[in-house]
Amino acid sequence: MSVKHLSHVEKRGKLYEGKAKVLYTTDEADLVIQHFKDDATAFNGEKKGEIANKGRMNNLISARIFYFLNESGIKTHYVATLNDNEQLVKKLAVIPIEVVVRNVVAGSLAKRLGKEEGMELDDPVIELYFKDDSLGDPMINRFHVNSFKIADPEHIRVMEVEAQRINNMLWSFFDERGILLVDFKLEFGLHKGELLLGDEISPDSCRLWDKETKEKLDKDRFRRDLGNIEESYQEVLDRVLK
Ligand code: TMP
Repeated sequence: MSVKHLSHVEKRGKLYEGKAKVLYTTDEADLVIQHFKDDATAFNGEKKGEIANKGRMNNLISARIFYFLNESGIKTHYVATLNDNEQLVKKLAVIPIEVVVRNVVAGSLAKRLGKEEGMELDDPVIELYFKDDSLGDPMINRFHVNSFKIADPEHIRVMEVEAQRINNMLWSFFDERGILLVDFKLEFGLHKGELLLGDEISPDSCRLWDKETKEKLDKDRFRRDLGNIEESYQEVLDRVLK
């Protein structure tokens, strides 16, 4: 499909509704529309709220980052931005595993190992989580993946390699914008047999700290009731579009 026709792609049926996004089918069987909502949740949906304009901000932040990754040779689902809240993406059969990459100790890693938040790691730590809200997305490793046939081991190997490459690219991308990339979560899926990066990369799925002040500019402001949530997402959007 040519680029000039993309703005005319229309939503058809609702395919899937998640906590922060809705997927719609289009007339193209291989393409879906990813709609970003203002809804915010934390702790596997236990805490619920809304962040004004989050849908628009995350759509535009994620689109800029996926465009950058596509240009840098990473295979992603991103095709085009359609409007403030929506982007056109390739339809994926999602692999039910979240890949978390950590550069700095924070969040559940700090809690699990009893470490202070803020310690920079010598080498990035990569973790796998099984996507299942009813189980609280438990951490797993390659042995669990193999024993329980959660995914193809070769896909997991490639996902870990891609996660490291993406980390190197995003670390520099954010560093140039005065942001410390503390940690982030990636999801992958298969499109016509090809493994692609999917979902979103935004302040909902990353920890982003101001490099100088270490001020949190991400969803931890919502999780921990720190205030200025919308302003922080806007700050990330402004810097990402620079
Ligand atoms: P964690 O420290 O809570 O395990 O989170 C690690 C990173 O993964 C952090 O950047 C937030 C992101 N994340 C999600 O995107 N979705 C989730 O459900 C969780 C728990 C974390």
